[in-house]
Amino acid sequence: MKKALVTLLLMGAVLLAACGSGSAAATLEPVPADYAGKTNPFGADAAADGAKIFQANCESCHGPQGHGDGPAGAALDPKPRNLSEFVPSVGDDYLFWRISTGVPGTSMPPWAGILSDDQIWQVISFAHTLK
Ligand code: HEC
Repeated sequence: MKKALVTLLLMGAVLLAACGSGSAAATLEPVPADYAGKTNPFGADAAADGAKIFQANCESCHGPQGHGDGPAGAALDPKPRNLSEFVPSVGDDYLFWRISTGVPGTSMPPWAGILSDDQIWQVISFAHTLK
């Protein structure tokens, strides 16, 4: 009897753990109407300009390959996202919104006003090249 109960509890714990580790995309906030459906006016060839913008503004936290391992990101909570994993899992409209307005309650700064819209799109083109 007691053994059955322990087994049941263990199974419950395993199930809970499985639910908690769902993909990042499942818990994301919806893109606000002002940003929803926006598409990148640049192609993949904008990645070279985007790389320079990334190195100057993003690398310190997100790391050279966007793995979330930049020196300025080490002590942050939550940690900077691993962009090589995150970027392919969301739409460009989501990326443009978050990079423009930042993520409230985290150290991810709003870049609108610092970077132009064009520069934000270029950095998104570059982010798609991160492996
Ligand atoms: C001061 C450190 C810092 C800098 C600089 C920074 N980020 Fe971030 N970024 C973060 C943190 C922390 C998060 C994690 C936010 C979270 O957990 O939702 C994040 C998250 C993101 C995300 C995912 C958004 C989301 O919903 O979590 C993207 C995309 C991103 N950053 C892109 C950039 C780009 C592009 C730049 C440069 C223009 C940049 N970041 C510069 C700290 C930084």
